[in-house]
Amino acid sequence: MVGVSNSISPTHNRVVILVSGTGTLLQALIDAAQGYEILAVVSDKYCKAIQRATVANIPTVVVPLEGDRDAWNAQMVETVAGFDPDLVVSAGFMRILGPEFVHRFTVINTHPALLPSFPGAHAVRDALNYGVKITGTTVHRVDEGVDTGPIIAQRAVPVEPGDTEETLHERIKIEERQLIVEVIKSFTLESHE
Ligand code: GRF
Repeated sequence: MVGVSNSISPTHNRVVILVSGTGTLLQALIDAAQGYEILAVVSDKYCKAIQRATVANIPTVVVPLEGDRDAWNAQMVETVAGFDPDLVVSAGFMRILGPEFVHRFTVINTHPALLPSFPGAHAVRDALNYGVKITGTTVHRVDEGVDTGPIIAQRAVPVEPGDTEETLHERIKIEERQLIVEVIKSFTLESHE
């Protein structure tokens, strides 16, 4: 559970967002930013999501993974700790966070499938190839595993005839964007009751 932060307003929680890709989930969080403050956007590589944060005048840090994973994990902990967040949100972040990171911070992740089905980096493709009729999105706490932490919220999304990985993923992202904003708002409010 998120500890009571020392922020000024009771509902003004301090959030760091982790990204790796196009950043449409980040954009939804930027556009809806009430009840939480986005302190920084951190990525493992320069990507469109970093550009979106820059346009929104949000501090950004890129921590490239260059071979030594232990060094990268330590740099991620140091970088994020520098912003003193109450909550870290993985929004399209495509790296596995080390044990020190997930024990140091309260981390939540959004995954484009109904966990525990279809964990991993190709969830939409795997669901489509399996032939499910209903898939969806999951927001969960991040633990030391891959997409294995306690589930916080889920939304179902139908698979339509003729769907490709792209069309299905975009339909899932519509729900993901709404769900991650709702969870962060409820999460921060709970942390101060
Ligand atoms: C989201 O579907 C997220 O669940 C998955 O990658 C996608 C990120 O989309 N890990 P974007 O980079 O926020 O547009």
